[in-house]
Amino acid sequence: MTTATFAKGLEGIIASETEMSFIDGQAGILEYVGIPIGELAAHGTFEESVYLLWNRRLPNKGELESFSAELHSYTGLPAGMSGRLLALPMQAHPMHVIRTMISALSMHDEDPNSVDLDEVRAKAMRILARAPTIVAFFDRYRRGLPLIEPRADLSFAQNFLYMLNGEVPTEAMARAFDICMITHADHGLNNSTFAARVIISTLSDIYSALTGAIGSLRGPLHGGANEGVMKMLWEIPTLNDVEPFILGKLERKEKIMGFGHRVYKSHDPRASELKTLAKQLASDTGNTDLYEKSSKIEEVMGTAVAAKGIYANVDFYSATTYHCLGLKLDLFTPMFVLARLSGWSGHILEQLADNRLYRPKAQYVGPHDAPYVPMDQR
Ligand code: CMC
Repeated sequence: MTTATFAKGLEGIIASETEMSFIDGQAGILEYVGIPIGELAAHGTFEESVYLLWNRRLPNKGELESFSAELHSYTGLPAGMSGRLLALPMQAHPMHVIRTMISALSMHDEDPNSVDLDEVRAKAMRILARAPTIVAFFDRYRRGLPLIEPRADLSFAQNFLYMLNGEVPTEAMARAFDICMITHADHGLNNSTFAARVIISTLSDIYSALTGAIGSLRGPLHGGANEGVMKMLWEIPTLNDVEPFILGKLERKEKIMGFGHRVYKSHDPRASELKTLAKQLASDTGNTDLYEKSSKIEEVMGTAVAAKGIYANVDFYSATTYHCLGLKLDLFTPMFVLARLSGWSGHILEQLADNRLYRPKAQYVGPHDAPYVPMDQR
């Protein structure tokens, strides 16, 4: 008999192997297939990062061109999907919309349940391509604007902003969005990725696994934190109010959204990348107050709680970045979905390639030999 250990929240437990991303939480390192995230953010593209994650190597020029062309060719929605989308309540949160529509895509797939690796990979490609179209269509529909069909000649980042805003974005805006996608693509066995791997380990289907992962990501302790950050920035009236606001929250034992991480205990390298981006975009778009408030929050948190290993995480500066890119608050977490679909799919493929059902145990802490009390005596 093996001895079992109990770790609340599975902290420190290694539950799977991956060749995709490496994280050293003490040193603040994140690598995709060995390449530091800063290098990819500085020189790579989202399409190239997805190829890297799915193939465990960088593509050559021809490989990247054909991979990108294939991805971009699937951006249109299957017949019937737009109608389904236009029947949704306009006030629905886009996270509920994308979760529902990714699930609905399974009904437009002739063989949704296949767990053959090549077929799952092809499904992953189609889902990744269509997710931005779903989000952009829904946002335009609720704004009462005509839908804009995707353009296969544009990059993933350009095409999404084009479908959302009706014009091809500037190079700087597209590049900024691309960097957001790169930095959010994969991150070890985070909660939503674990959810995806748990679901696919029953040999269920990729649609179910991704639907579950989106549900997990929505939570405010995970991807939903970026919305919380923006609300906090709006709630703080001026730069001078930052310190009393943050200290007051800490005193009341309230969490500061965009800070802390289960794994990173020195700094989150994605936050450093996004901080640089947020600063530039804030200055370009007249939002320096948001950047200054963010920077001040970081300073106050540094004095108050850094000793406990609580630092800004990926969600903190992504809030200002997305706001400066002109995205509405409730589209922030869906942006995380657009990027992370690539990581989730990579993990689903890894899991299927060497599957074993996830089935941990619970430590029972209730009574034993309890009497069955008849109904009239309870
Ligand atoms: N603000 C204030 N105190 C915090 C924070 C925070 N953001 N995060 C952790 N702490 C404190 C917490 O109160 C606890 O203190 P004490 O030991 O005195 O009770 C201690 O640090 C340990 O916290 P924990 O919640 O047990 O740590 P965890 O590893 O379970 O949680 C976390 C990690 C990300 C859930 C947590 O830091 C948190 O809730 N942060 C705010 C939400 C957030 O920004 N989430 C995004 C995470 S990164 C991107 C992603 O995963 O999507």
